[in-house]
Amino acid sequence: MCGIVGYIGSNNALPYLMEGLSKLEYRGYDSAGIAINLDQEIKVFKSKGRLKNLEDTLDKSMNTVLGIGHTRWATHGAPSDVNAHPHTNENSTIAVIHNGIIENYMEIKEWLINDKKVCFKSETDTEVIAHLIDYYYEGDLLEAVNRAIEKMEGAYAIGVIAKGEPDRLVAVRKDSPLIVGLGAGENFIASDIPALLKYTRDILLIENDEVVDLRKDQVTIYNVFGQKIEREIYKVTWDMESAEKEGYEHFTLKEIHEQPKGVKETFTRRLDKNSNIVLDGITITAEDLKNINKIYIVACGTAYHAGLVGRRAFETLAKIPVECDVASEFRYRDPFIDEHTLFIAVSQSGETLDTLQSLREAKRKGARVLSIVNVVGSSVSRESDDIFYTWAGPEIGVASTKAFTTQLTAFYLIALHFAKLSGSMNDERIKEVVDELKMMPEMIQSILDQSEKIQKLAARQFNNEKVFFMGRGLDADLALEGSLKLKEISYINSFSIAAGELKHGTIALIEDNTFVVALATQDKLYEKMVSNIKEVKARGAHVFAIAKAGKTVIEKSADEVFYIPETLDLLTPILAVIPLQMLAYYISSIRGNDVDKPRNLAKSVTVE
Ligand code: F6R
Repeated sequence: MCGIVGYIGSNNALPYLMEGLSKLEYRGYDSAGIAINLDQEIKVFKSKGRLKNLEDTLDKSMNTVLGIGHTRWATHGAPSDVNAHPHTNENSTIAVIHNGIIENYMEIKEWLINDKKVCFKSETDTEVIAHLIDYYYEGDLLEAVNRAIEKMEGAYAIGVIAKGEPDRLVAVRKDSPLIVGLGAGENFIASDIPALLKYTRDILLIENDEVVDLRKDQVTIYNVFGQKIEREIYKVTWDMESAEKEGYEHFTLKEIHEQPKGVKETFTRRLDKNSNIVLDGITITAEDLKNINKIYIVACGTAYHAGLVGRRAFETLAKIPVECDVASEFRYRDPFIDEHTLFIAVSQSGETLDTLQSLREAKRKGARVLSIVNVVGSSVSRESDDIFYTWAGPEIGVASTKAFTTQLTAFYLIALHFAKLSGSMNDERIKEVVDELKMMPEMIQSILDQSEKIQKLAARQFNNEKVFFMGRGLDADLALEGSLKLKEISYINSFSIAAGELKHGTIALIEDNTFVVALATQDKLYEKMVSNIKEVKARGAHVFAIAKAGKTVIEKSADEVFYIPETLDLLTPILAVIPLQMLAYYISSIRGNDVDKPRNLAKSVTVE
């Protein structure tokens, strides 16, 4: 989703702005732009399409110590040069970049047009911010921004510069991500850490409703009451290399291959030397758990699919009733939540707006909030009572891969921990599951080592117009993820279905050579899946099945079978998702798509 950067210092701002924007590309964008204060004039450069287009508009000899930059993912107004950010007021004395949505922008726009005779150039909500700040500007940018935000409703992270103040950058955060990077004689703003990492590891995490006044050697944060706030410096410990491709053709492929390491990292940090589960960020006691009669898991997209698996883990291991919902539905359906509810938010980025707002809604209703998050210090984690960080490292490819398997690992560990607290499992049984979990990195690696098989399958099946994914039980949950992964990066129309539902309608779509991916990893549902495979085969489907090693009966009905290592039924999603991710990746790559940055998608969805 939109990304913002800004620089104030003594060096040339341009290299940072362009480097920062390139590191934000993964968030998804359709246009980009920068505004700089050059010789007491605000100059704006912007362009539809990739950063290269923007770069071509820049005069390389320009040298400026103040600038802001933006990658735009269109919400209000089509992707175009004119709708790209930064936006300015009429005589370009104020320039603004914005990530989010100004919900009452029409109201403000009408007021500015009717009463103040302001002329608008673009269709964006952001342009109203520039005019509004200009309206209040009397030589003090901070003052003008403060007055403007009083009128603005919605979600925003903004960066603002003024022609008359070449030594000042003002930024505001309300519900959209914003961080400040601290340098020597220079300071930065950005939407997230990768944009800053080449320049600094000292970060200030800006909270909601805070306004930041940046000078080259001073950063002042104000709260909603205008009081100065002291913020501890957050030191980034991970390396830039983990945000680089390291020889892989795409970040997505690299991240698929990082899963053995990611899963291992997620659990080893949570096991003591006797393999007892120790969850540092979770302070729920046995007494607290007695008071919880329901768990609500809420997330979006892939994180929601991890939640579906999590639901089964809690039900099977900890014997607690669970509901799982997508955040965009949850927040508007007045869910039944009270102080006996544990709300679990799942989010790689920790910035997904629907998930964040659902969390706030659950909190308002009295729930305790636990989050499973990858990005340290993100909004979701900061607003939670208990946190489980997945420690998967930065995920740059838009399609979530290692975030998913590490989220599953988190769910298994939390469910086992609760099982211990509630006494629903004895230590011996818990140890059996933990021991099996410890085998996952090796097993994932053994699947990755067979990537050639999936590559060949992709080469045969890349041209389909539709693909079906089906399964039963946990495999029905995983079918959703397989289908999402394929459609989002290959643009093939893919569907997923609980295999038992086939005969209730969907089977009508199966015809000669329809490609069907059948997941058959659940022991007690295996025979039933074999029957479902026969049903689609009888209608001409070409079936690629995924089953556990040793379960070979399926070979008689499926056209091709990929075996994952034998493990507990509950843990199979961690393994079975790997061939599904690889299939989506190779098909997308063969089709010549931009795998890491699929069209219309954003890595971090910070608007509704
Ligand atoms: C799909 C994908 C998305 C995200 C979803 C939630 O591959 O990446 O569906 O899973 O946008 O994002 P987070 O986990 O950041 O809340």
